[in-house]
Amino acid sequence: MAETAKGPSPKQEITSGYCFFKGEIMPLADANVNITTHALNYGTGCFEGIRAYWNGEQGQLYMLKALEHYQRLLFSCRILKIQLPYTAEELVDWTAKVLAKNEYREDVYIRPLAFKGSQVIKVTLAGLRDELAIFTVPMGDYVSTSGLSAVVSNWQRISDNMIPSRAKVSGAYINPALATDAAVADGYDEAIMLSSDGQVSEASAANLFIVRNGALITTPITSDILEGITRRGIVQLAEHLQIPVEIRPIDRTELYIADEVFLAGTGAQIASITSIDRRPVGDGTLGAVTAKLQEVYYRAVRGMDDRYLDWVTPVYK
Ligand SMILES: Cc1ncc(COP(=O)(O)O)c(C=O)c1O
Repeated sequence: MAETAKGPSPKQEITSGYCFFKGEIMPLADANVNITTHALNYGTGCFEGIRAYWNGEQGQLYMLKALEHYQRLLFSCRILKIQLPYTAEELVDWTAKVLAKNEYREDVYIRPLAFKGSQVIKVTLAGLRDELAIFTVPMGDYVSTSGLSAVVSNWQRISDNMIPSRAKVSGAYINPALATDAAVADGYDEAIMLSSDGQVSEASAANLFIVRNGALITTPITSDILEGITRRGIVQLAEHLQIPVEIRPIDRTELYIADEVFLAGTGAQIASITSIDRRPVGDGTLGAVTAKLQEVYYRAVRGMDDRYLDWVTPVYK
């Protein structure tokens, strides 16, 4: 039976191990920045979240869709005028080296971070020094995957013309942090965010799918979402499972009448939402389509399904 990620909470402090910084692998304890750093002051960085899953039977650690994540990082960098002297393929290789140096035999979360490293006051993007770091940490589930309560947030999702949603911009995460914080303070697990036109955009750090009459529906990339890599993978899984997929705007009230709703993201994985605004989704339990997708997904990510071996890159040779 395939499992969701196993390991410590995402709230643990990250203090040990090796990372990539200043063009080399070094102890995490030595990878520090000055308080004057532009990205620390203005949020002028962009990042990725990648998972690597341990397959105990094979003695192998698999990075999940690593190349796609680095291609997206380079797109984010283009939007922020960050120039990295690496190709996406080279970044995958460096990540494998960092994971191997840490000798992980468990599930791991990987955080590449590209940022404006200049120690200057001027608010701008051009003419600043760019830096790249990659750090890693053992991590289990980011949220429960079997039944979350969500609220439609009164915090609006940032729009493309404010801070581009399709770039994973460091400073932009204030937006989902405010939404999640308010949701949790009100007794919910998760926030669903609407875009400025009042339609569903995505969740706080994951894309959103609903199921209606057996069809999978998710919002288009023009709904101010991050163009999710898990989202794309789920569309592929659905096609193989012959589940119809519709990519179209979703109204708020469709959330109330959907048969199933789930989150899709590298951190969240495939996480069922069983209530929204205190209304049960469907019958208020994990739905059949979500459960089927989870079953295939959690095998694929550990390199246990030959059909999806191109999703994973082995770390150990
Ligand atoms: C705002 C936001 N949306 C969606 C996602 C899901 O994207 P992915 O599946 O590429 O991890 C994430 C996670 O990184 C996110 O932070």
